Amino acid sequence: MTQDIRKKIVDLIGEEGLAQAFAPIEEASGLPNAAYWSDEWLALEQEHCFRRAWVFAGAEAELPEPGDMKPIEIGGAPLIILRDQDGVIRGFHNVCRHRGAKLVTGPCKKSTLTCPYHAWSYALTGKLRSRPHFNGPNVMDKFEDGGGDKLDLVEVRVETWNGCIFSNVSGDAEPLLDWLKPMLDRTENYDFSAIRWAGKLEFEVNANWKLVYENYMEGYHVFAIHPKLLKFAPMNVRWSGEWDRHVFYNDYVFPALDEGRGEGLPHYPGLPEDDAKRGLWFLCFPHFAAEVFPDQFSVLVSYPVAPNKTREELHVFLIGDAATSNDFKEAREATMKMWDDLNREDLGVLELLQQGRLSPAYDGGRLSPHWEGPTHDFGRRVVERILS
Ligand code: FES
Ligand SMILES: [Fe+2]
Repeated sequence: MTQDIRKKIVDLIGEEGLAQAFAPIEEASGLPNAAYWSDEWLALEQEHCFRRAWVFAGAEAELPEPGDMKPIEIGGAPLIILRDQDGVIRGFHNVCRHRGAKLVTGPCKKSTLTCPYHAWSYALTGKLRSRPHFNGPNVMDKFEDGGGDKLDLVEVRVETWNGCIFSNVSGDAEPLLDWLKPMLDRTENYDFSAIRWAGKLEFEVNANWKLVYENYMEGYHVFAIHPKLLKFAPMNVRWSGEWDRHVFYNDYVFPALDEGRGEGLPHYPGLPEDDAKRGLWFLCFPHFAAEVFPDQFSVLVSYPVAPNKTREELHVFLIGDAATSNDFKEAREATMKMWDDLNREDLGVLELLQQGRLSPAYDGGRLSPHWEGPTHDFGRRVVERILS
């Protein structure tokens, strides 16, 4: 099996491309162009990197009431995430057990999931309830206790952590808290039970999902692309960051609080003085990127749509009341604007990176050993995950 997958990888990126992924940073390149443009390569990533891992599926606050639901695609699989009548967050494959129609196409609120094709209806627990006319005209099949394994909606594993919803499509990932542990180990001073969802931003990116994270990890581009961020945290407070198990970690201490980062909004309760001017950021492989500032927990997630198209969501969580109260409206809006401006500064270069990977003259490039070791490791991890 692994041999078959290895052959597939070599067919797509060559022996040399595979070797590049494992070479030391001093002589390494990034992954070859095909890893950014090939549909087959993306299918391998969807199956091995996304379906077998924990993936962020939204904020609980997006589904405040029983019956609230939204569709989402994870690892290429259409899913429904919903809050059932008992308030439990659940996930299901978004497909009817009859002829396979997709059930939910946009965020909505329903007490029953009724298929738009032949009106089979399912409870919010996924159990089949009724099937009109299935056994002849005007015969209504009713199911008191669902239809069993072959007829009820197929549930997917979903867990929550402080208002964040995660899903694992394959069902066999490690426990969620084990997966988050390398991040939690480094943030013991932060009381995450205080975070509340303040809203989200959405972006369409004309670039491969890996480019989003390769860019996210390295502070090397900040001097050229992010003038405001550079003022806030100049190059000399930055380092390359490092991987701890499957989690990338980076941080800096910034000279002064600024609008959008720490100013005008409450800080984590009991946060030690030393952390009041610290920014930390993480990437829990494959796609859960979290930034921790004294006043917030912000999440950047990318969902691959095509090799050259990515949907990004940026969720902002603030401390307690600050997430919703009118008293903090201005500072909250300034934080959302800061993220919107900052992220838009990256979109143009991401597109250039994608377009540059059409050039036969590009071989994965030469990376900076000072800044881009973790970026190179990210490509290696993608390959390792596909091979494992
Ligand atoms: S496909 Fe859903 S009821 Fe027929
Ligand atoms: Fe950037």
